[in-house]
Amino acid sequence: MVLTTVTDELISAFDRARSVTVLTGAGVSAESGVPTFRGGGDSEIWTWRGKPVTELSSAELMATDPKLVWEWFDHRRGMLTGIQPNPGHFALAEWERRASDFTLVTQNIDDLHRAAGSLNVLELHGNIWRARCLRCASTFEARDTPLEENPPLCLACGGPARPDVVLFGEILPEGVFARAEEAATRADLFFVIGTSAVVYPAAGLPIAAKRSGARVIEVNPEMTDISFIADVTLLGRAGELLPQFLKQRG
Ligand code: APR
Repeated sequence: MVLTTVTDELISAFDRARSVTVLTGAGVSAESGVPTFRGGGDSEIWTWRGKPVTELSSAELMATDPKLVWEWFDHRRGMLTGIQPNPGHFALAEWERRASDFTLVTQNIDDLHRAAGSLNVLELHGNIWRARCLRCASTFEARDTPLEENPPLCLACGGPARPDVVLFGEILPEGVFARAEEAATRADLFFVIGTSAVVYPAAGLPIAAKRSGARVIEVNPEMTDISFIADVTLLGRAGELLPQFLKQRG
């Protein structure tokens, strides 16, 4: 079923839900001015200094030219400086306050869900404002942008650090993905918001939820690779549609 507004039926299903799990992608931050990766909204495929995102954010480049990887992430941190969460982020934080069992799984590394007040957030791809030591593996906040030093040095052992994000060619942090899968298979309602659903294993979560009996609701201005399994596709922007779930029925 394809809809363009949130019906009373969806609001009551939301109000009745015992367990709600949400998967978000870059589209939920588009209305805050953060470009998406693969289009939709108003952005094209990203390249920087003539290199595509997939190369700049790769384990391969981290091994051969870590300074450039840090320059690339510092460029993105610069773009995020001053960016605020939008009504879509705030609605999800309010959803969490209202639901008895709520899990927010995000592919985004921009930290905007937390900035909007979300608490139970599983960051599948890490966080752009955190660094991880290559020597002792401890993680620490690294919010200075532009970077004071490249690479930033570990606060614990002084070793060189890398961005605490999942790069192309790397596996997701095991514990985090296992908890996301668990929340997906436990859900009554599973929302897929602002993702093209082409990057795995994240894109497998709505399929796991569906198999476990969840009702899958997609929110996106465009049909995506996951629309064929969605029970409902809400065609539109997250910042406009997500707050509608909070309004009174009728
Ligand atoms: N509201 C909801 N969805 C939107 C909006 C909006 N305002 N604007 C755009 N979209 C949708 C687009 O139609 C598109 O389907 O958001 C989706 C963004 O898709 P991608 O750019 O592919 O981003 P995402 O799915 O998050 O990418 C997954 O790929 O590059 C890697 O690690 C990176 O986490 C990222 C992963």
